[in-house]
Amino acid sequence: MTYPGKKFIMVCQHSSCAVQGALKVLSAFELADLPEDAIVMTSGCQGQCSTSPTVRILPEETWYFRVKPSDVERIVEEHLKGGKPVRSLLNPRIHPSEEEENEDGSER
Ligand code: FES
Repeated sequence: MTYPGKKFIMVCQHSSCAVQGALKVLSAFELADLPEDAIVMTSGCQGQCSTSPTVRILPEETWYFRVKPSDVERIVEEHLKGGKPVRSLLNPRIHPSEEEENEDGSER
């Protein structure tokens, strides 16, 4: 089943993320003024436990790390409404910085 035009906010609730406060992050998204095309969901482990809590935006595959409830408004306003991911919260394992991408002239 597909949902054309929808964005899914996957908030991991598995062990490491839960210990780091992922339930409060989930609550912050649920209480936020989300755009109509955004749907909040819980998820199991996303494989990024050492940098939890993990928030993954699908289908575009934007990964946020160490997300705090206080980061949620920024993600909603700048990314989900404004279309520009919050660079300082991007998981560097998945989204290498521009310096790393350009160091040798190619992406890693
Ligand atoms: S427990 Fe959340 S990414 Fe592994």
